[in-house]
Amino acid sequence: MASLIVHGGAGHFDAARQQPALGGIRRACETGWALLSQGASALDVVERVVTLLEDDPTFDAGTGSYPNTEGFVEMDAILVDGATLNFGAVAAIRHVKNPIQVARRVMCATRHCLLAGDGATRFAHAQGFAPVTDAELLGQPASSPGQGTVGAVALDAQGHIATATSTGGIKNKLPGRVGDSPLIGCGAIAEDGFGGASATGEGEGIMKVMMTRSVLEYLKAGLTAQAAADAALSDLADRVSGHGGLICLDAQGRHGFAYNTTHMARAYVTADGEIHSSL
Ligand code: GLY
Repeated sequence: MASLIVHGGAGHFDAARQQPALGGIRRACETGWALLSQGASALDVVERVVTLLEDDPTFDAGTGSYPNTEGFVEMDAILVDGATLNFGAVAAIRHVKNPIQVARRVMCATRHCLLAGDGATRFAHAQGFAPVTDAELLGQPASSPGQGTVGAVALDAQGHIATATSTGGIKNKLPGRVGDSPLIGCGAIAEDGFGGASATGEGEGIMKVMMTRSVLEYLKAGLTAQAAADAALSDLADRVSGHGGLICLDAQGRHGFAYNTTHMARAYVTADGEIHSSL
């Protein structure tokens, strides 16, 4: 049976941001679930869901991304196909509206998996993605960017799993800094027959424990999706004193999530087809 789980980032959401974050994550999940219910592929659904969240300035991805210490926007994204283990990713890409769509293009139109920096930006524009300015990406007001990396994991009717993650990174990051999000096994993972996961939080810690790879290993060892999420998050907290969160699905579409921040915006489809969203 198809399944979907979506996140809008782990952290502390101020009171004024809570309803927009909840509304945005719920709308994205509703759209993704409608597509899955009509037979769309898991890959198409996670790309669409993350595109919606990138376009929502509530979140720190695409429009609404954090600027770096020099005031410009560099973004990271990844899309993973659990059927083939293929993935496409971009790191420190600039001047594109939807990094997740560029990540898909890297996967489908090149023999590479990850493009970074100026090469990624030039690839995107050469592929026809329209250039956008930092002012457009910073959202309005520019002094108040969005908050929260975004991600989605979907299982489609054919039993294929896909994951997508996108981010503008962390506050006060140095130019050129790349976090966990575009790195396979760190910001995202998917493997048919076992499951998929998307991470959020401080990338420096998530990379050290390769958090989504841990989720998959725990699923392969027979843990439930929720137990795998809890165990991987414990690794982050116990091994490197990291802060963040994750969402996951197992091969049957059962969901798990865990976080050790104040909030994590999330939405998922329950076993009876209802959408549950919370912060
Ligand atoms: N997890 C997002 C980042 O550290 O960039």
